[in-house]
Amino acid sequence: MNSQPEKSPFNAGETLCELTSPLTVLLLGSGGRECALAWKISRSPLLRHLYIAPGNGGTGAYGENVALSPLDFPAVEAFVKAHGVDMIVVGNEDPLVAGIWDYFNGREGAPLIVGPSQAGAQLEGSKDFAKQFMVRHNIPTARYQSFTAETLAEGEKFLESLRPPYVLKADGLAAGKGVLIIDSLDEAKSSLREMLSGMFGKSSATVVIEEFLKGIECSVFVLTDGNGGYRVLPVAKDYKRIGEGDTGPNTGGMGAVSPVAFADSEFMRKVEERIILPTVNGLIAEKITYRGFIFLGLIEVEGEPMVIEYNVRMGDPETEVVMLRIASDLLPLLHAAACGNLATMPLDIDPRYATTVMVVSGGYPGSYPKGKVITGIKEAEMSATLFHAGTAVAEAGELVTSGGRVIACSAYGKDLDDALAHSFEAAKALQYEGKYFRTDIGADLRLIEQTAR
Ligand code: AMP
Ligand code: GLY
Repeated sequence: MNSQPEKSPFNAGETLCELTSPLTVLLLGSGGRECALAWKISRSPLLRHLYIAPGNGGTGAYGENVALSPLDFPAVEAFVKAHGVDMIVVGNEDPLVAGIWDYFNGREGAPLIVGPSQAGAQLEGSKDFAKQFMVRHNIPTARYQSFTAETLAEGEKFLESLRPPYVLKADGLAAGKGVLIIDSLDEAKSSLREMLSGMFGKSSATVVIEEFLKGIECSVFVLTDGNGGYRVLPVAKDYKRIGEGDTGPNTGGMGAVSPVAFADSEFMRKVEERIILPTVNGLIAEKITYRGFIFLGLIEVEGEPMVIEYNVRMGDPETEVVMLRIASDLLPLLHAAACGNLATMPLDIDPRYATTVMVVSGGYPGSYPKGKVITGIKEAEMSATLFHAGTAVAEAGELVTSGGRVIACSAYGKDLDDALAHSFEAAKALQYEGKYFRTDIGADLRLIEQTAR
């Protein structure tokens, strides 16, 4: 492990790293995840002012929304200078993969940034890079090979050597749609051809084909400081499919729960030893600056954890339960991660359960209408904390839908059933035309818990 504390990458870093006065923070993003981060950050006594760019119809309750594109780095820079922003927290992956950290690195008056460098963001930005990284550091993951249009024939041969179902992944970012799981060999071969000839644009110019793993998934989040210091946040499980019983097309996520019954201390010991430490230390060994969240998409295969994917941000809707379960002030933890000195920071976890149920627009994840007036907010807030995702405040001042996932209903409970009851009550209380939510969030884990009892 590298125990040499790295010098701050920013000219202004040394003064910013003395947390002597409250911080002005700019949070980038507009989803339920950013609403939950804004909620948590806004509770910090160390916060001077929170800006959210661009934010949504709910984030304004925790800070000031600003009409700024997170991908327009010069505009972000001008805003930072004009408003004395000390620290940028990057919510979604796009600015990270596009190199926001590198853009600010070394610039005069640059803010601290919670998020990896562009090289580190490749863990999410390129599945081929992520797989090679795991192989280099002996991190358990599915057997795989990568192919391009030139090696299509080898790709077809590799498919023939695997057992169904076949897993095909576009190398680059594809808005969560780049993974195909296919039962028939012929169909897998034709999908491989289609992907390589541009099904996901440039993102599928390289395709990763991997062995199918059978097991139950969970999401582990690590906040790391790039110097070997890290904290493991509460484990969560999300529910990706639109339909009850995990059926139908994939969505951004229909709900989440934390803690996760099967991710017990023995499982987490293996995760830390075999996945977290080799990841954190592997990044250091490869001289990749990484000061931010690492999201490990894990699958438990016969008691053993394996990595399905890395993301370089928090999960959505996992953040909508993870933030509830972080008892400590998050702001000094984020600050310490960005400054490279997380090792001595305490992280207290709330022992209660937290669940979230996402209410979505009718038609999602296909096409759906926008602008539907939302009512029942006050009633829903009696049962849960509402993290807005796809909402906007219309000109007349009313709250309307503006996205597929509309509001995450997050609640605590003394156990899973108790938390779920509150989340569902809130989901029922919200009203708008076409509202839909899954009523079986957490049902698989309730079964596991009941069997264990
Ligand atoms: P990813 O975008 O890599 O997370 O993949 C999306 C989803 O596809 C994952 O959450 C899994 O449910 C599934 N998946 C991806 N890779 C595999 C695999 N090797 N075996 C089984 N399921 C997989
Ligand atoms: N909930 C999965 C993700 O954020 O990618």
